[in-house]
Amino acid sequence: MQDSRVQDLRSFVALLESRGELVRIAREVDPKYEMAAVMAALEKERKAFIFENVRGARFPALGGLLNKLERFGMALGYPRAEEHFDDPAFDGLLEKAKAHALKPQTVDNAPSQSVVIQGADINLHDLPVPTFFELDSGPFITAAIGTTRNPETGVQNVGVYRTLILGPRRFVINASSLSDLRRHYASAQERGEVMPIALAIGVDPAMLTAAACKLPPDHCEYEMAGGLQGRPMELARCITSDLLVPANAEFIIEGQVDFGERVENLLGEFAGQYGPETAPATEVTAITHRPDPYFYTIMAGRNPEHNTLGNVAVYGVQRSIEAALREALPGQIEDIHVYMSPGLGTLAHVVVSINKVNDGQPKEIIDKAFAGGGHIFPMSMITKRVIVVDSDIDVHSMDDVQWAIWNRAATEHKFMVIPDVQSWELERAAKEGQKSVRIGIDATMDLDDVDKLVRPITPGADEIRLEDYLGNSRGKTAA
Ligand SMILES: Cc1cc2nc3c(=O)[nH]c(=O)nc-3n(C[C@H](O)[C@H](O)[C@H](O)COP(=O)(O)O)c2cc1C
Repeated sequence: MQDSRVQDLRSFVALLESRGELVRIAREVDPKYEMAAVMAALEKERKAFIFENVRGARFPALGGLLNKLERFGMALGYPRAEEHFDDPAFDGLLEKAKAHALKPQTVDNAPSQSVVIQGADINLHDLPVPTFFELDSGPFITAAIGTTRNPETGVQNVGVYRTLILGPRRFVINASSLSDLRRHYASAQERGEVMPIALAIGVDPAMLTAAACKLPPDHCEYEMAGGLQGRPMELARCITSDLLVPANAEFIIEGQVDFGERVENLLGEFAGQYGPETAPATEVTAITHRPDPYFYTIMAGRNPEHNTLGNVAVYGVQRSIEAALREALPGQIEDIHVYMSPGLGTLAHVVVSINKVNDGQPKEIIDKAFAGGGHIFPMSMITKRVIVVDSDIDVHSMDDVQWAIWNRAATEHKFMVIPDVQSWELERAAKEGQKSVRIGIDATMDLDDVDKLVRPITPGADEIRLEDYLGNSRGKTAA
């Protein structure tokens, strides 16, 4: 059977264009705000796009390729992606790729190194890099994968990191406190070592997806990308360092970290708030690219492509919270759903259903849940709210959970507010010392009220198959 996985960015662009899902914008756009405003409008329509004429830039910009989940399915060869590709399917694909990771191969004559620019010819302003929001520190590269070596082990790491342009040959690649890159920066600085770094812009969807995944330290995302592609990634050695970068990328930007300058890089982030981060600057040592490269850009902020790709990083966190809770509450959990989505902010909202045996049980569960280890983070640091519901509530439907909250809780002790909890850096509303509140909600029926609050159920409704009543054609008169 022919492998339908997309092998590079260009074939994906061609596929989307052939299906009418990509638009080309010939009109000149200003990279400061105007481009982002048009991108935001296109994202609402879930269109992929190419800006052919960005003021002051030498190259076209494209984006929106992965602004809905089905596009990941299409790119990664999931059968009948449009009908069936959902979060569990995606998570399953990622887990399979981790289990079938493939070592990359090094190649000569990489397309991404067809043109080499060094020295005074390097000019980052040639790239069509947007400035997205009014308070942003400047133009940001948002769709690049960045790579460094662990200074202690030499193993290469890859992640997606926003990058603020500071000048023609200088930028700052951001690293959150959770990232391996943050650890690499700290380690190289402590050892007083030179630290090469490289960005690849315009890689294939499997590589971008693997880079967004949170793998354990010293598990290389190139190997996982190979697992997703079903063939080893082809890598080329950088011109100015020994880092390996994707051979099929559109652009590679090579640089050396300058620990002498730390720079704040303020950007409107994925949950719809500004993120004031700081990181060391990087001096660019070379830019290489294909003969006719596309610059890939992702609309920053709480927007579909950023959020869909961002969710990839979150699957692992959700799984680890769920496992930690099942460990902390053996035998008590009927079902569980860990919500983590930009619509609910940067923290998790955990819903646990139980078969309640006494009215004190939900509070005990809430206390234990917040006290748990959480595997990656302490639970209380990453979880804003724990809600306990009865087992007739569908934990996987926030609508049903909301219904339970507003229909089964009528005394103040069912709403718990826990003050002054240590939160993580991305909770931007946190107060001094990164302290914030946590909320517990007991949305179960009080045992005394069970008869009064019974839900109306039509016996047999769950088993009905409408086609048994409508014949073969829905909508036609029933036989
Ligand atoms: C569009 C986008 C932008 C991101 N920007 C950053 C960033 O600036 N800094 C960061 O540390 N993580 C960022 N992330 C998340 C990381 O890519 C992700 O957590 C990854 O697993 C980090 O890899 P690492 O732990 O191997 O360094 C971003 C993710 C996406 C999808």
